[in-house]
Amino acid sequence: MRWFPGSRSAEVLPSPNIWYYQQAYEVENRAQDVEGEIWRVLREECDWAGRDVLDLGCGDGFHLPYFARDARSVLGVEPHAPLARDAAKRVAELPGTEVRQGRAQRLPAEDASVDVVHARTAYFFGPGCEPGLREAERVLRPGGSILIVDLDVTSEPYGGWMRADLPHYDPVAVERFFEAQGFGCRRVAARWRFADAAAMESVLKIEFSAKTAERAIAEVRRLNTGGGEMTLPVGYRVHARVKPTGLVVPGHSADPEPSSPAVSSSTSPRIV
Ligand SMILES: C[S@@+](CC[C@H](N)C(=O)[O-])C[C@H]1O[C@@H](n2cnc3c(N)ncnc32)[C@H](O)[C@@H]1O
Repeated sequence: MRWFPGSRSAEVLPSPNIWYYQQAYEVENRAQDVEGEIWRVLREECDWAGRDVLDLGCGDGFHLPYFARDARSVLGVEPHAPLARDAAKRVAELPGTEVRQGRAQRLPAEDASVDVVHARTAYFFGPGCEPGLREAERVLRPGGSILIVDLDVTSEPYGGWMRADLPHYDPVAVERFFEAQGFGCRRVAARWRFADAAAMESVLKIEFSAKTAERAIAEVRRLNTGGGEMTLPVGYRVHARVKPTGLVVPGHSADPEPSSPAVSSSTSPRIV
């Protein structure tokens, strides 16, 4: 998993995997979560059937058709123009589904206009994402949910490869940050499945440095001795938070921003 430090004020976080290797990233998206575990957990946190969904950092729109199956409307938001265009093409025939170019810090959506803000491996990587959290809160209706999906850096073997490339990444600080912002955290054991070794290699090579990719590929080959399809376990975190409905217990605040965040801004790396 590559880390491109960049400035903390940079509004768009570089995502070299999908920006420069879109075809391999499509293979990765198809391989991920073949048993639907992430979708199951998301649905338990907030069922979007008949409701309005915003997918933030939607890339080329891979997840939009899934939401569109039973959501009332789906809005994909993506800052990188070529991806936003491809996402729009992907959903062109889907009623109630559209894509707007925009970013987490200034969402192109009205106040209180959606019921679910979903972001998968996009923008919400820990300290530094507060502006996006405030925007998500603005566009959510009371009672709506923000659902953040990211890789679990503590889960083996994939997390070990990430830690090798991100030696300064502090998963505990990241989890504390989301906890301090009022999020719950669920760990999800998912499985990636590739048609063959070539597909697996093409994906691991866009996610890791050359040295780590070589190690990861060798380990996946050891896990799959039969040839043909290749699978590997990959852990995820799902962070979920519900926007208060406005009923405030006396002595408590409805303000979603804690007055004294437990984690101050840090140099936490971003996973892209
Ligand atoms: C690793 S990709 C994931 C794309 C998509 N969610 C998926 O799972 O296929 C991360 C995406 O976040 C987008 N991104 C970067 N900075 C962003 C920002 N400030 N607000 C919203 N999205 C951003 C990138 O352009 C990229 O498309």
